Amino acid sequence: MDAQALSLNTTIEKINSNVLNMLSERGKNIFFPKLGILAQSAQAKGKAINATIGEAVEDDGTSMHLPEFDELINMPTANIFPYAPSFGKPEFRSLWKESIYRKNPSLGDTVISNPIATNGLTHGISMAGYMFADEGDTVLLSNHYWENYNLIFENGYGAKVSTFELFENGGFNVADFSKKLNEVKGEKIITLLNFPNNPSGYTPLTTEIAAIIAEIKKLADKGKKIVVIIDDAYFGLVYEDKVFKESIFVALANLSENVLALKLDGPTKEDYVWGFRVGFMTYAVKGGTTELYEALENKTAGAVRGNISNISQLSQSLLYKVYSAPSYEASKKEKYDILKGRYDILRSEFTNPKYAEYFTPLPFNSGYFMCVEPKKGLQAEEIRKHLLEKYSTGVIVLGNVIRLAFSAVPQDKLPELVENIYKACVDLDKK
Ligand SMILES: Cc1ncc(COP(=O)(O)O)c(C=O)c1O
Repeated sequence: MDAQALSLNTTIEKINSNVLNMLSERGKNIFFPKLGILAQSAQAKGKAINATIGEAVEDDGTSMHLPEFDELINMPTANIFPYAPSFGKPEFRSLWKESIYRKNPSLGDTVISNPIATNGLTHGISMAGYMFADEGDTVLLSNHYWENYNLIFENGYGAKVSTFELFENGGFNVADFSKKLNEVKGEKIITLLNFPNNPSGYTPLTTEIAAIIAEIKKLADKGKKIVVIIDDAYFGLVYEDKVFKESIFVALANLSENVLALKLDGPTKEDYVWGFRVGFMTYAVKGGTTELYEALENKTAGAVRGNISNISQLSQSLLYKVYSAPSYEASKKEKYDILKGRYDILRSEFTNPKYAEYFTPLPFNSGYFMCVEPKKGLQAEEIRKHLLEKYSTGVIVLGNVIRLAFSAVPQDKLPELVENIYKACVDLDKK
């Protein structure tokens, strides 16, 4: 093992040896190189002649670039063209960290790591796999989950996805979550919680969050080492009272020395910048210190460097500027109101009793999506194909449920969307 990795591991072990045991073999071995090219470049910064960096520079010292970009992007060249650090741009990381505290007031003054920038949440999930999932490890998910988790955890890292039933009696199935957590073999448990959930659009109620946390705590008290990966892609898009409005990260961050919370979040869905490819990974564990977090940040940034080197300078700079704009909060609220309006319409559509003969909505209260489950033995895939052919309507089928992205449908088309599903069901039922 490289001496730099060993030194990070020694630091982690000294502060919380459980965290060291949670790391995968890859996670144990990785480090952010402090020596070599990066260190030598850093030492040369500001010197009269600097022949260290792998970028091209104009004679006046600014970034070399093609002039066609000048009229397209109104920002200093230093915020556009150079590589960003593998950790993320420092001022942007600070801003994002402040925003985590602002959006999650229950965190209080809990010490958390500095966020590490990732290429969107997908890359954050993959880096979480890199850091914690070994071949054969189980990753526990709800049975309604984003299908890309398979490609990441199973195809990417050889881990095994297992699932608990998300719903029971219209709410979160705490009993099955607990049962499946208890069934994970070995000392280490990895679970990923995604609220608002894709595809169901469900976020647990405040009371359910307390029950979920109690189950995790029970296992931690028995000595299990639990990594909770939190996929907060749709954070903030919650449309009902009684639903937990902060991230479950707040309840895990200071829960136990045996529970490492890893928050994955980012502007992709929250701020409607899907193609920008920016996300963050932030750690918290009870008793976590700056020294512990710096060691984890170093390892994570090392994993990022070894995979994609760093995240778009331009995307980070644009987002930093927009987040600092005085109008930002009001603009964000406007977009939230549009999605909430669509949610309200869809919810009221499902109160029409005629629909209950053919399908029922799964519980939903947040996010971009909701799901309907066909009845009377109707097959979701048949309905999907019929909707495409006869009603010019596209939906997604997962298992035997139909996912509707109400985020992508204008409000006045939502009643027609539900009516089309109804008509497709009637047609197929008559066959
Ligand atoms: C639950 C969930 N997590 C993560 C992502 C991906 O986010 P990003 O585009 O930032 O990689 C998605 C996208 O559909 C998602 O639904």
